Amino acid sequence: MTPRIIPVDLFDLVVYGATGDLSQRKLLPALFHRDVQGQIPPGSRIIGCSRRGLSAEEFAALARKSIEDHVPDAERPPDVVSRFLARLAYVAADAGAEDGWADLGRLLKPESDRIRVFYLAVGPDLFGPICDRLASLHLVTPRTRVVIEKPLGKSGASARALNESIGRVFSEPQIYRIDHYLGKETVQNLMALRFANALFEPVWNAGHVDHVQITVAETLGVEGRAGYYDTAGALRDMVQNHMLQLLCLVAMEPPISTAADALRDEKLKVLKALKPVSGDGVAGLTVRGQYRAGAVEGEAVKGYFEELGAVTSRTETFVALKAEIANWRWSGVPFYLRTGKRLASRVSEIVVTFKPIPHSVFDGQAGPIAPNRLVIRLQPDEGVKLWLMIKDPGPGGMRLSHVPLDMSFADAFNVRNPDAYERLLMDVVRGSQALFMRRDEVEAAWDWIDPILEAWSTSGDMPKPYTAGTWGPSAAVALIERDGRTWYEDQDL
Ligand code: BG6
Repeated sequence: MTPRIIPVDLFDLVVYGATGDLSQRKLLPALFHRDVQGQIPPGSRIIGCSRRGLSAEEFAALARKSIEDHVPDAERPPDVVSRFLARLAYVAADAGAEDGWADLGRLLKPESDRIRVFYLAVGPDLFGPICDRLASLHLVTPRTRVVIEKPLGKSGASARALNESIGRVFSEPQIYRIDHYLGKETVQNLMALRFANALFEPVWNAGHVDHVQITVAETLGVEGRAGYYDTAGALRDMVQNHMLQLLCLVAMEPPISTAADALRDEKLKVLKALKPVSGDGVAGLTVRGQYRAGAVEGEAVKGYFEELGAVTSRTETFVALKAEIANWRWSGVPFYLRTGKRLASRVSEIVVTFKPIPHSVFDGQAGPIAPNRLVIRLQPDEGVKLWLMIKDPGPGGMRLSHVPLDMSFADAFNVRNPDAYERLLMDVVRGSQALFMRRDEVEAAWDWIDPILEAWSTSGDMPKPYTAGTWGPSAAVALIERDGRTWYEDQDL
């Protein structure tokens, strides 16, 4: 078996926006965890960069706090904390001004051929200007990589413009577009399940699958991100990226290998095969909602407008939609997607429902025969459940029950589940692009999303209200029930 820690080469990782939320909440704790695991080679450096004029000590104090806030006590050996903090450096540089950039150049030592990663944890309007500065300072070496993250545009056109501005400086193999869902353990397990087992592949098609559901439900509201969120909405924030990536992994053909382009070629084919949802068709195939005040898990919460501090807004905090993939394998199989904030519970799962048996040999006493379902739970409590029909034990004739073969990964493996960013950051350093989105994937996803956004904006309708703590507007239930199906609920007996 492959060892758990894959060695990486010596690197310098520059984080732009090092004092921001992503860096403090995710990147620094993730790097720290890899240091605890012994994956960061001695001499590697993490260079914080932002507009704020901090000293190296002030940045180290921020980093210490981020680790204390986000890494449990028991996982923070004091010697590793000191070792980690000693790797840090800080440079104040503003994307829009000259100051500081020469310092960064000196720190990086232009002649060095160590791996160099620029993680742009800043708004997309700064991606182009920062890349241009890096180019003008000759900081882009053949072993340099750049990492960017959503929002990668607001539409196909703006995503293309963004890709162009980065592509002027970095070649595609140097660009790492993060979708953190691809770094999640269970998302990768989807591939293991499909391609390391002989069981599923023969039935993974329109001949045997009735429909697929993908749910990403959150209990959180928009919190401190209302400013960004109100310009995006659930379709851009979750569907264009995370949910379409999940759909691709469920629906793609077996790739010829797990090499980055082999995988990405297959995902791209799925995106291109999505049946367009546009114009008059949008109203019947999509539902958008917006939460109002309510209670989530017993606690009273505000509505979206109050969180936003606005009187009104047309931004959706919930989307449900029905997609179809027009290809040989999936023709006629609906893929129902739903995601929202302030829903009843936090759960992300993919549910593949198989077709009913063609004929029952049992009499009416045996009870109804429910279809087989494969449930892949992404979070929380990652695992896989396969719903089967069995005979109820004991006397009383043949009575059938629908029961799950249930595997919780936490119980089965008893290991810490690394955060997606741990894996993804180390993949960047190792030069592995398999879990990152290629330019054409991002653009193809937008091409499918754009007409939905357009139809919503021309309709002038408001999103349908739903009470916080519920499963979204009733129209989302109607969307699937119209087809004689229901959203999966765990106690699905
Ligand atoms: C982010 C979205 O990409 O994913 C957030 O911008 C969302 O709005 C988050 O809350 C969900 O990620 P996770 O890992 O908590 O499921």
